[in-house]
Amino acid sequence: MLFCNCERAHTPLHRPILSLMGRRCSPFEDPYLGKGCTLSDKSATLIIFGATGDLAHRMLFPSLYNLMSDGLLPSPFNIVASGRTAMDDDAFRKTIAEALKTFVTAEMYDERRIAAFLDTICYCPVEAGNAGQFDALAARARGLGDGPIAVYLSTPPSLFAPTAQGLAETGLVGPDTRIAMEKPIGKDLPSSREVNDAIGALFAEDQIFRVDHYLGKETVQNLIILRFGNRLFEPLWNSTAIDHVQITVAETVGLEGRVSYYDGVGALRDMVQNHVLQILSIIAMEPPAKMDSTAVRDEKVKVLRSLRPMDAETVRTNSVRGQYRDGAVKGKLVAGYLEELGKPSNTETFVALKAYIDNWRWTGVPFYLRTGKCLPNRQSEILIQFKPVSHSIFKRRNASSGLEPNRLIIRLQPDENIRMMLMTKRPGLDRDGVKVEEVGLDVSLDTTFSGERRRIAYERLLLDLLEGDTTLFVRRDEVEAQWTWVDSIVNGWKESDLKVMPYAAGTWGPSAGIALIERDGASWYD
Ligand code: BG6
Repeated sequence: MLFCNCERAHTPLHRPILSLMGRRCSPFEDPYLGKGCTLSDKSATLIIFGATGDLAHRMLFPSLYNLMSDGLLPSPFNIVASGRTAMDDDAFRKTIAEALKTFVTAEMYDERRIAAFLDTICYCPVEAGNAGQFDALAARARGLGDGPIAVYLSTPPSLFAPTAQGLAETGLVGPDTRIAMEKPIGKDLPSSREVNDAIGALFAEDQIFRVDHYLGKETVQNLIILRFGNRLFEPLWNSTAIDHVQITVAETVGLEGRVSYYDGVGALRDMVQNHVLQILSIIAMEPPAKMDSTAVRDEKVKVLRSLRPMDAETVRTNSVRGQYRDGAVKGKLVAGYLEELGKPSNTETFVALKAYIDNWRWTGVPFYLRTGKCLPNRQSEILIQFKPVSHSIFKRRNASSGLEPNRLIIRLQPDENIRMMLMTKRPGLDRDGVKVEEVGLDVSLDTTFSGERRRIAYERLLLDLLEGDTTLFVRRDEVEAQWTWVDSIVNGWKESDLKVMPYAAGTWGPSAGIALIERDGASWYD
C-alpha cells in the first residue's frame, strides 16, 4: 500500500480514485481537515504541449537542460514533447539542439550533456480533438514508466481545456498527475472561471500549477525573506510608518512579434493582472503562519481581495493608459505601436495606477503601480517610502532641516539589490548647524552571491512542478481575485471611454502618468 503524503482535503472525486490506485492518506494526517497538498513522488515523465513554441525553446528546454546538468532531475527522466506540426523524434531534437545553442549560457553548454539531454526527448504530434493522436502520445508516455506524470501546457489558453480533456480521455490522468498552465488564465473573470472549471473537473486544486514566472525569480522570493526573516521591518511595515509604495516593472522591449496576442490585451492584463499584483501581494501580505503553499497563498489572496475596485469615475483620477509612438530606446530607433500593428488601436502599452488596499495594515496608503513597453530602462523595482520623522531637531534658522524621509528600494531586475536610504551627518565643524545628508546603505545581492549561478525562473518552477510543491504557483482564488480587480478597471475604462495617451518610445510614459503621483506630492523613483 502506498501512502499519499498529502495534507489536502481530498475531493469526493479524488478519494475513490486514491483507493483505486491503492493509495491512502498518511495515518498521521487528517485528509479532511488539511489543505495544500504536496504529493511526495517526483514526476519522472514530463509532457510538454506547445513544445514547438517560443516559450518552450527559450525557457523550458534550456531550464530542463540546466537542471539535468546539475543532476537535479530524477533518473531516468523523460520528456514527451508535443506540438501540432508533424515531425519525428530526430527532427524535433534538432530544433531543440538549435534552441539550446542559442539560449544556454556558454558556461553551461556542453556537447556531451546536450546529447544526453536530447536522448530523453521524444516527440508526438497532437491536434486538439484528435483522439488517435492523444492515444499515441499516452502510449508513448506509458511506455516510459509508471511514476507520476507532469504535464506542461505551453499552448494558447484556448487549448488548455481541450488538451487536458484529450489527455484525460486516454486514461493517463490520475490523482498524482500534475498539470502546469502558462498565463493568461482567461481574459477576464468569467473566462478565467471557465478555464479553471474545465481543468478543475479533471484535477484537484493541488495538482494544478498556474505559472506566473515572476514567482520563479530569486528576487521575488527574496521579498518574503526580507520581510519575514528580519526583525527590523515588520513593526514599521504599515500605514503608521509608510507613506506610499511604488512598484515599477519597466521594459525596453516593444511587441517582439507578439502583435496578434498583445493587441486587445494590453499592459493591464498582460503585466498588472499577474506579475505586478503578485509582487504587490507579497509586499502587502500579513506574515504567513508558515512557509508552505497554503499559508502563503492564504495571505496573498486576502490582500488581493482587499484591493479597492475602481469605477468609471475613479479610473479618471487613479489610472493612466499610454501607447508608445515612434522614438528611440537605448539609442535605437523604434517604430510606434500603431505602425507595428498596421491599424488603429486603443490598446495600452503603458499603464499607471493608484491602488488602495482596504485593510487595517494599509488603510490610506497608496500603492502606485506602473508598467510599460519601450520605456528608457529595463527595471523592476519596489520603493517603500517611509513617512518623515515626527519632529526634526535639526532645523536651521531660515532653512529646512534637510531631512529626507527614509526610503527602501528593492531592485528585482536587471541587477538585484536592496538599498536603504538613511540620513547621516555630513562631516564638518557645524558652525552653521548640523548638515545632514541622505546616504544609501546598499546590499548588492549580485556581489554578495557572485559565486552563485543565477537560475532561469523556469528552472525553479519546473523543479517544483516535478516535486509537487505548489507554493510558487498561483491558486485559483488568487487568479480570480486578480481578475475581479482588473475587470473593475477595464469596465471603468469602457464606461468612461478612457483613451490611451501617446508617449514617445524611450520615455517614461505619458505626462499624465507622472502627474498621477505628483498630484499627491510624491514622484516616481526612476
Ligand atoms: C510576460 C509578458 O508575462 O512577461 C511579456 O507577457 C513581458 O509581455 C514578460 O515582456 C516580461 O518578463 P521578464 O521576465 O522579461 O520581466
